Amino acid sequence: MAGLKVILFFLAELVMASAYMNYSNQCESISNDTIKVIQGEALRLHCPNFDCANVKNNSKIFWFKKENAKIQPIMMKENERVHYHGGILYFLPLNLNDTGLYITQWWYDVAQCDEFVTEVVVYEKFHPNQLYPILSEQIHILPYECPVWQNTGENITWYKDFRLIPEKTDVIIQIYLLSKDANGIYTCVCTWEHHGQVYNSSGSRYIQRKKEIEVPFRPTFQYPINNSVDFVDLGSDVKLDCRVFLGINIRESKGVYWMRNNSRLDCSNRMDNLSVRSTLTITQVSMKDLENEYCCVAISHYQWALVCITLRPRESLLPVAAVFSGMFLFILLAVGMVKWVTVDLVLIIRSFRIMQFKRNDGKLYDAYVIYQKDNPDEKTGRKAAYFVNEVLPAVLENSCGFKLYIQGRDDLPGEDCTELIERKMRQSRRLIAVLPPGFNHHGFTTSLCYDWHVGLHHVLVEQDMGVILIQLEDMKEYSHLPLGLQHLLQKTSPFRWDESSGKATCPTSCFWKQVRYKMPVPPDSSSCGVDF
Ligand SMILES: *[C@@H]1O[C@H](CO)[C@@H](O)[C@H](O)[C@H]1NC(C)=O
Ligand SMILES: *[C@@H]1O[C@H](CO)[C@@H](O)[C@H](O)[C@H]1NC(C)=O
Ligand SMILES: *[C@@H]1O[C@H](CO)[C@@H](O)[C@H](O)[C@H]1NC(C)=O
Ligand SMILES: *[C@@H]1O[C@H](CO)[C@@H](O)[C@H](O)[C@H]1NC(C)=O
Ligand SMILES: *[C@@H]1O[C@H](CO)[C@@H](O)[C@H](O)[C@H]1NC(C)=O
Ligand SMILES: *[C@@H]1O[C@H](CO)[C@@H](O)[C@H](O)[C@H]1NC(C)=O
Ligand SMILES: *[C@@H]1O[C@H](CO)[C@@H](O)[C@H](O)[C@H]1NC(C)=O
Ligand SMILES: *[C@@H]1O[C@H](CO)[C@@H](O)[C@H](O)[C@H]1NC(C)=O
Ligand SMILES: *[C@@H]1O[C@H](CO)[C@@H](O)[C@H](O)[C@H]1NC(C)=O
Repeated sequence: MAGLKVILFFLAELVMASAYMNYSNQCESISNDTIKVIQGEALRLHCPNFDCANVKNNSKIFWFKKENAKIQPIMMKENERVHYHGGILYFLPLNLNDTGLYITQWWYDVAQCDEFVTEVVVYEKFHPNQLYPILSEQIHILPYECPVWQNTGENITWYKDFRLIPEKTDVIIQIYLLSKDANGIYTCVCTWEHHGQVYNSSGSRYIQRKKEIEVPFRPTFQYPINNSVDFVDLGSDVKLDCRVFLGINIRESKGVYWMRNNSRLDCSNRMDNLSVRSTLTITQVSMKDLENEYCCVAISHYQWALVCITLRPRESLLPVAAVFSGMFLFILLAVGMVKWVTVDLVLIIRSFRIMQFKRNDGKLYDAYVIYQKDNPDEKTGRKAAYFVNEVLPAVLENSCGFKLYIQGRDDLPGEDCTELIERKMRQSRRLIAVLPPGFNHHGFTTSLCYDWHVGLHHVLVEQDMGVILIQLEDMKEYSHLPLGLQHLLQKTSPFRWDESSGKATCPTSCFWKQVRYKMPVPPDSSSCGVDF
């Protein structure tokens, strides 16, 4: 076998001398390409193997053309339209009948060879089949090299969609893919010389910006909240923002807009990170603007959605304050009413005699009455005596059935005064104290009798007795009174009995109601008249 190859090799050398060699099917066939070219242009067909293509020694490479079943050797003669030099087969220029299979036989060793088959298809004029594989990139600027350039001093012209790109003669051009019209067919034409003749070779390729993968979503509103209320200041400029997520890599910002009463409005839109934001500006918002409903609409690939908001004037704090102060007044009034009604209520309930058990406390008197007997001012003295001895018994005892202990009326002569006061005080449920008259009458501090001291002691210290303070004349201040009494006045306010009032002795007057309210539960025989 090796011997045969050696023989063949020598045969090849021999053929070389005669410029061509008959084809013999003895080499390993490795690959085949297809080259698509245009009639009239020139083609420099390289042996598909890089090492093979650079072989200059003509005794190592043979080219054949397969036509029908026959395989014809190709010449090396320079005057042939199709001829070869080493690893390069020249078509100067191409003709339609050059279409066919071309075989390169490469003797890389004395007895070993490889064979490459290249299909050449010649078109009459440009055909889309000729395009090199599509180039799709995501980068912003693509450097693109002329695919037919062979670094043999060619002049280069560039075409985009078969229109000349002026002033571009470099082997590599920069294609700005972000520009809208970047996509298209880029053609590079190399003009080169061969033995004084000028030939053209061209290559075309479709180039495009690779799109990011778009993943549309159902429109998702980040704001506003559907059916929410926006408070605006009347007269000011209002900006309504709508922010929607439409999907991944979806940059269709026109898909989001504002509507008023179903008519589309002019808004400014922009991409805001992954979302589209549409801003509607209403200048000097008026009550009329607030009558409308504002809806933000979002349209993405498959879906349509909207959210609506209502505009309201911002509430001023005044009505709120008014409502609150109104409520406060009402509460005050209610409290006052309750207080005012309490007295009557209690008196009515008492008149139903359902609390009689309260009287079974072993006491004899409902109240012990004290007053300033030895009054320096005769007029006030008389008035006090009148009130204590006439009015009090008339109302509380005769009308209401209370039992009073009045010193000087109820004590028997000869009894031990101090012991009597102590005992009677203990037998009484209340202490009625008629305050001494005012300071201005005398200019000296009133001194109190013994019964006062006992009474104050029970009320303030032992706290086993309720007290009713009655004042017969107006007093602005009580500094002339003894300290114990002043202290009592701070805790209990006195009732003013007005002699001149038409109801001075009427049990249903305000004064007597207050007194009766403070008095214990009356005995069952009592009836102070109608309380309503
Ligand atoms: C090639 O074949 C032709 C015809 O078949 C023949 O005349 C010629 O001598 C052959 N050449 C070689 C080198 O064998
Ligand atoms: C090479 O070309 C021949 C003829 O067209 C074809 O039958 C064969 O499948 C091709 N081989 C490859 C690897 O493309
Ligand atoms: C070409 O190759 C042959 C065989 O390998 C060799 O004898 C010859 O010297 C080579 N010629 C040149 C110019 O390299
Ligand atoms: C191919 O066409 C050219 C020009 O038309 C002609 O000269 C040549 O003989 C043709 N070759 C074949 C094999 O038909
Ligand atoms: C290339 O362009 C230059 C200048 O325009 C010109 O002089 C030269 O002949 C051109 N070469 C070819 C191969 O067309
Ligand atoms: C070769 O290409 C140049 C530049 O593209 C063009 O001006 C010229 O007409 C072409 N020549 C031929 C023969 O196609
Ligand atoms: C966009 O996103 C970045 C990071 O998530 C964040 O820092 C930036 O504030 C966002 N911009 C806007 C306008 O929301
Ligand atoms: C929008 O609709 C509301 C209620 O339907 C109406 O009061 C208002 O006048 C309308 N506004 C416009 C601009 O049509
Ligand atoms: C907003 O509410 C309206 C009716 O209240 C409804 O038709 C609409 O689908 C809602 N929009 C969204 C995004 O939920």
